Amino acid sequence: MSGSRGRVARPDYPPRPAPSAKLATMTEAAAKPAARPSTLPAKPRAFSGIQPSGITHLGNDLGAIRNFVALQNRGVAEGFETIYCIVDYHALTSSHDPEILRLRTLEMAASLIALGLDPDKCTLFVQSHRPEVTELCWLFNTVTPVGWLLRTPTYKEKRANQPDDINHGLLTYPVLQAADIVLWKASLVPIGKDQAPHLELSREIVRAFNARYGETFPEPKAVYTEAPVVLGTDGVKKMSKSVGNTIEILGEPDVIRKQVMSMVTDTQRIMRSDPGRPQVCNVCQMHRHFGADYEEVWEGERTARTGCVDTKKLLAERIIAHYAPARETYRELMADLPRLRRTLEEGAERIRPIAEATMAEVRERMGLR
Ligand code: TRP
Repeated sequence: MSGSRGRVARPDYPPRPAPSAKLATMTEAAAKPAARPSTLPAKPRAFSGIQPSGITHLGNDLGAIRNFVALQNRGVAEGFETIYCIVDYHALTSSHDPEILRLRTLEMAASLIALGLDPDKCTLFVQSHRPEVTELCWLFNTVTPVGWLLRTPTYKEKRANQPDDINHGLLTYPVLQAADIVLWKASLVPIGKDQAPHLELSREIVRAFNARYGETFPEPKAVYTEAPVVLGTDGVKKMSKSVGNTIEILGEPDVIRKQVMSMVTDTQRIMRSDPGRPQVCNVCQMHRHFGADYEEVWEGERTARTGCVDTKKLLAERIIAHYAPARETYRELMADLPRLRRTLEEGAERIRPIAEATMAEVRERMGLR
């Protein structure tokens, strides 16, 4: 008996008062001196995940990947670890073609490397190569009230988007995401604003776990991207492959030209001589990311010196030029898939000890094994 009470009290991590944690726990925690050394990493670790959603588009880069690269470089400078994961388990909640999933996973890996992730500076791996995360997800399921999941906005959205395939994975999606992050005891999570509800849920799940079993995991914090939401070529919806409003940055120049030329500009600028409104024009907003002189471009629109077509042509050429080296690297990487697979396997292998240590600790705390 006393053994099991000792297990509940974590003198170095007084549990937060959970509904079931009675006063005895608190008193005992307060009475005992710290015995267990902190298992939190000395430096914050960074982690993020990205879906293998096919051809990489501008929204992926501006909304997520640039941020991944910046954090990777900060990690090198400041001596903390950055881990990036292609989340193929998550992808299974809405895509069910095995060959396509396998290919997209590799395409995403090649895109990430082409756009600046360096497997020598960060760890890049595929989620299913470290299956410990599914065990942690199950364990987190047992501290997660169903109500939290039913209320998640993305769950409601996906239920509406795929009414014929409301699988349980859609509901559990955020629990797996929480496990993704904290399996590595990561606390910095570079994400786009659209992921805020998921991250909030991750924090709640971590709090629920820590309250029940003692402070095991740090609460993850979002590191937001500069570009909050990147709108698609329609100028209305978030750029997304499923909407079909993307600019495929690693695609052929002609594809990029076509996609950029199809962009909706300021809908109130009808005549060539009408002044444009750069602050609401999606094309003008995108120029921000492709040249220090974007204010001059805006001035041209505002004074009707330039037309929307000129501004779009310029944007297309700038995007093509900006991503030319990445396009080349992407091609090279995709031309040698065995080597790319090896890089990913090495990534998963490198961080195996972290996953094993976390799982050993979690099992012990929860009374397993
Ligand atoms: N849900 C994220 C997205 O759709 C992907 C993701 C999975 C993720 N696991 C994660 C992001 C962990 C950050 C941290 O973009």
